[in-house]
Amino acid sequence: MAEPVRVAILISGSGSNMVRLVESMTGDHPARPVLVLSNVPDAGGLARARDLGVPTAVVDHRAYPDRAAFEAALHDRLASARADLICLAGFMRVLTAPFVARWQGRMLNIHPSLLPKYRGLDTHARALAAGDAEAGCSVHEVTPDLDAGPVLGQARVPVLPGDTPESLARRVLEQEHRLYPEVLRRVAAGDRRAVTIDAGQSGGG
Ligand code: GRF
Repeated sequence: MAEPVRVAILISGSGSNMVRLVESMTGDHPARPVLVLSNVPDAGGLARARDLGVPTAVVDHRAYPDRAAFEAALHDRLASARADLICLAGFMRVLTAPFVARWQGRMLNIHPSLLPKYRGLDTHARALAAGDAEAGCSVHEVTPDLDAGPVLGQARVPVLPGDTPESLARRVLEQEHRLYPEVLRRVAAGDRRAVTIDAGQSGGG
C-alpha cells in the first residue's frame, strides 16, 4: 500500500474545520494528520487536536521580528513533521510569496465565499450587502495572490430572508465541514478536479 499523504493543519481559532479533517482521515483514507499547528498559543483548536491524538505545535508570530523569521520557523516545524500537504483551516496570517512558493501545489485553504467573489474578510456581510441569493464556501490551492488560487471545490447555500452575517456564517460553516474533508480526500488521492456540493444533498458525495 502507498505511504499515506502526511497532512499538517494550520489553525488560529476554534478549529472546527480541523476537527472534521482529522476525523475524516481514518481507515482507507489516503492521508493521515501528522501535525496541528497554531500561531495563536491559546487557540481552542489545540486542545481539540490533542484530544484527537494529533501532535500539536505553536509558532507564535509575535515571537519573531518579522514575517520572514516567522515563516522560516513555520517552515522548519512543518518540515520536521515531514508534512506533504498543508491545510489552512481558519489560519489568520497572510503568508508571503516565498513561503507559498515553497509549498505551492501542496497547500489548501478554505474560504467562506463562492470564489472568485469576496476574497479577503467580511465575506458574509458583503454577500448580504450585495443582495446575493446564494452564498457558500470554496476550497482552493494557495497561491501568492490572496484567495485567488485554483478552486478545487465549492458548496452553496441559499441566503434566507432576515439573514445576518452570523446566521449566514453558521449555514456556510456546516457546508465547510462537509466540503473540506471531501476535497482533501480527493486531493490526497491525486484528483484535483473541482467538485460541487449542494446544501440539499445529505451524507456527502
Ligand atoms: C471558517 O469560516 C473558515 O472558512 C475561515 O475561518 C473559519 C474557521 O473556523 N477561514 P474554524 O476555526 O474551522 O472553526
